[in-house]
Amino acid sequence: MSQTIIVSNRLPTKVQRTADSLSFQPSEGGLATGLGSIYRAEGNMWVGWPGLFVEDAAEEQYVTEQLRADSMVPVFLTEAEIRDYYEGFSNSTLWPTFHYFSQLATYEQSHWDAYVAVNEKFCRVVLEQAGPDDTIWIHDYQLLLLPEMLRQARPDCTIGFFLHIPFPSYELIRVLPWRAELLRGLLGADLIGFHTFGYMRHFLSAVAQLLGLPTQNGQIETPTRTIRVDAFPMGIDYERYARAAASSAAQEHGQVYRAALRDTRVILSIDRLDYTKGIAQRLRAFELLLLRYPEWHEQVSLIMLVVPSRDQVAQYAALKEEIDELVGRINAQYRTIGWNPIHYFYRSLPLEELASLYQLAEVALVTPMRDGMNLVAKEFIACKADQRGVLILSERAGAARELADALIINPTDTNQLVEAMHDALVMPEDEQIQRMAAMQALVKRYNVFAWSRLFMNQLAYTKMKQHMLATA
Ligand code: G6P
Repeated sequence: MSQTIIVSNRLPTKVQRTADSLSFQPSEGGLATGLGSIYRAEGNMWVGWPGLFVEDAAEEQYVTEQLRADSMVPVFLTEAEIRDYYEGFSNSTLWPTFHYFSQLATYEQSHWDAYVAVNEKFCRVVLEQAGPDDTIWIHDYQLLLLPEMLRQARPDCTIGFFLHIPFPSYELIRVLPWRAELLRGLLGADLIGFHTFGYMRHFLSAVAQLLGLPTQNGQIETPTRTIRVDAFPMGIDYERYARAAASSAAQEHGQVYRAALRDTRVILSIDRLDYTKGIAQRLRAFELLLLRYPEWHEQVSLIMLVVPSRDQVAQYAALKEEIDELVGRINAQYRTIGWNPIHYFYRSLPLEELASLYQLAEVALVTPMRDGMNLVAKEFIACKADQRGVLILSERAGAARELADALIINPTDTNQLVEAMHDALVMPEDEQIQRMAAMQALVKRYNVFAWSRLFMNQLAYTKMKQHMLATA
């Protein structure tokens, strides 16, 4: 029987060393939470890094067995590989470039070399697992070279690739010293998917201008194959969030929060720690709201959850300090004995607690500077059983292409953001319900299962067409 092998840098389970044992926890981030619901389907498996440096062969075997029991195959990486491939090329070169933060990007030959070597390492593990009829579905910017490496080893195999972050304008891509190698790496796939048509257009333009290949109607013609490119906006496991919000655990958390907050109204902000998310800009906007609209003092609090991420990368550590400092300053200036303007948490929370925060919040602030999709926006919507609540959403998140009933803002326009917060707090209930109902219908329908079905069907169709042309 054929299977689908999902490949991504990070497995959906993260293994961590505690004082006397190893703990297995869900991973953070849109990719792992989004895809986590689908890979367990019949016979499928997931290949990726478990987030742990193993100490010896016995530990490696133990972790492998534990993960295998849950259909995961680990790719173990060394500390040097994580430094140069993950913190280096992936997160200090590609991540800033693809999110339009080119000024933060570094270009180190040793990071590139490690990126090539680790993509080769993933290639070896996938080849050990994949049979000739299997479908290989590769995810995200850490593995841009893997499609072509697999194609070289297995010319006929079925390979899909999905990019979870933006694909930027050709002007940014052309800055990369290894731009042609990266694009050629991707072209090993049969189908390449993006969250939006905008990202797809940028990609086709980069392929045409940098590789000189003909591109039309979402297809790229190479001398040997036709590659299909398309937009597939990723969804969430809607029912999982709706169920979590309705669970008795979430209700109990909600009662505790409500009692502690008394009548204070809640604006919510949830992100991984990242400079692309606009967290500091959001804090400054909240500060301006308090300055401009004193009527909200003691009436509104911002609950801000920042999930630790990539804290070994210098810019992330610096951002953490900036956020700590801003929260301290704003709270010190405005707080009263009975009111805390900002409740700031730097940790990850279990699903039921997240769901009860989404339920509690009247306003969600999803205001990234750049974001491939942003699934937090969709999770907030799925948890709103009573359909009250307002989503403030950045026009530079992929999700803004679908969620037109949110209050769409430009995240660098602080004035607009302040006014959107005020408007959200005074929005009549019937308007909230009307907007939320429309967004719920969409997020429920185009959920993560529909997304993966669409991608897989398109991949099978692309492969079939290639085969028919080859045998015609
Ligand atoms: C984003 C990326 C994912 C990544 C996640 C968490 O969603 O698109 O590929 O897994 O962030 O980041 P991390 O570096 O911890 O895997």
